[in-house]
Amino acid sequence: MRRLALTDADAEARHRCVQWMLGAGLEVRVDRIGNVYATRPGRDRSLPCVLMGSHIDTVATGGAFDGTLGVLGGIEVMRTLNDAGIQTLRDIEVGFFTEEEGVRFGTDMLGSAVTAGRIPLEVARKLTDADGKTVKDELIRIGFDGDACERRPVPHAYIECHIEQGPILASAGVDIGIVEGVQSISWQRLTIHGEAAHAGTTPITSRHDAGLAAASVVVEARRMCDSGDFGQLRATVGNLGIGGGQTNVIPHLATMTIDLRNPADDQMTAAEQHLASYVGELAARHGVRVAWERMAKTAVVPFHPGIGDLLAATADDLGLPYVRIMSGAGHDAQEIAAICPTAMVFVAGEHGGISHTPREHSAPGACANGTDVLANAVLRLADQP
Ligand code: GLV
Ligand code: MN
Ligand code: MN
Repeated sequence: MRRLALTDADAEARHRCVQWMLGAGLEVRVDRIGNVYATRPGRDRSLPCVLMGSHIDTVATGGAFDGTLGVLGGIEVMRTLNDAGIQTLRDIEVGFFTEEEGVRFGTDMLGSAVTAGRIPLEVARKLTDADGKTVKDELIRIGFDGDACERRPVPHAYIECHIEQGPILASAGVDIGIVEGVQSISWQRLTIHGEAAHAGTTPITSRHDAGLAAASVVVEARRMCDSGDFGQLRATVGNLGIGGGQTNVIPHLATMTIDLRNPADDQMTAAEQHLASYVGELAARHGVRVAWERMAKTAVVPFHPGIGDLLAATADDLGLPYVRIMSGAGHDAQEIAAICPTAMVFVAGEHGGISHTPREHSAPGACANGTDVLANAVLRLADQP
């Protein structure tokens, strides 16, 4: 899947989801950051709704399940309630949030962060992609610049069903994970300015090699993970560019992204501080200039224990074994957790749970089991007075 946020491919998928929502008899609305919600009315419309959802944008080389499972699963829950003729006390909504992946506009969980109030609407709408196109103009272009307020009515609860994207559930031999929280995420862009010079004539000791400095950062990031000094740190340089690009010219420029994850906030702080001082020393040693840009930062988010227990009880009633798990990936649920009781259901993946690649796959039975837990938990919540 290559369905970057607010591209034509995203627009096509959005329209298809909206058609399915309308086909299920739901009331659809779009907010000012392009989040889409579809409502199934309950008996008492004055009560806060129960919300399901996730995202349908993907990374540039993604799989079919990341995010989409929770959205299509939510629509399927609605259809199932229709088929069974069930009327709930509260409204139930299913939604999808804009630019969860952060690949196009540089900040992940964008739509849900705006909804939760962490990122102001106007800041989000001004973000640009690599070609300088803004979120606002792209929302308008694809016809999803809605007029509903982005600070949506506070739900009674939010549940997101999502693939695990890792190996833990498969190793435990279960289809279901009850997610207890999400680890801290730090995204930064580092630009290194060196000096172009002749590859053959410039003495090794007189160089200001931006490429060499960038390579050192990549190696240091991995060394930090291996050292154990920063707890369960994971560090990734997924985007690395060398300016100039000529065989016989010392690179004058390097740009890189650094993605850090840590299940402990204090260890994340220590890792960021270490990296900053390492890069400072590196710059002095190589005579290069560096500039940091903060792309995204979220702290560890614990989910609501009561919703977690309700999901666990639901899985028990369905006879589905599960494990409790921390999420390694970021999710819209970590933003919505700031406004209402929230938890997630994970579904096991195959091939070691590999994700963010086309090999991402979860078996239909596992997807159905996860969606069953979602449906039955939502049903219970929707009948709570
Ligand atoms: C979301 O996919 C993330 O980067 O964790
Ligand atoms: Mn996702
Ligand atoms: Mn993803």
